[in-house]
Amino acid sequence: MKRSFILAAVLAPLLVTGLAATAQADPTERIKVDAGRQFFDANCHRCHSVDADKASYGPLLEGVVGRRAGTFPGYPYSKALQGAGFVWTPGALRAWMEANDELLPGTKMRHVGITDPTVQDFIVTYLASLQP
Ligand code: HEC
Repeated sequence: MKRSFILAAVLAPLLVTGLAATAQADPTERIKVDAGRQFFDANCHRCHSVDADKASYGPLLEGVVGRRAGTFPGYPYSKALQGAGFVWTPGALRAWMEANDELLPGTKMRHVGITDPTVQDFIVTYLASLQP
């Protein structure tokens, strides 16, 4: 009883500090998101919107991290992507940027060939920051 009270007294302030720290934007994360936005604008934006109100040639990428592949409502996916059956994890997104036609033969997305792991990481961090 006494012991758990002491534990709570010690842990509570730690918890609060922890929460405050996550609430504040981590500066490294911010830099990665900003860099990712620039790479996204240069390589992906002409085909992909990240704003649900704007139509685009490719599927909307807002909220793509954690989404099942080929399932954005109303988008006319290729058969390959419709039947892909996997979820867009950071790893799957990196593989897709590098060689989408190898990850999923038959996709109608043009090969973009982003092979630099740092650039891939920035773009994924940016996309992950866009959860609707
Ligand atoms: C030339 C146009 C074009 C460019 C450039 C392009 N894409 Fe695509 N993208 C598409 C099309 C079209 C599809 C749909 C493919 C299909 O149905 O097979 C697609 C599909 C996707 C999907 C699957 C989404 C889902 O809902 O399953 C992801 C993820 C994606 N693109 C990411 C990217 C990223 C990241 C970049 C930049 C590095 C990029 N794309 C550049 C046209 C493009």
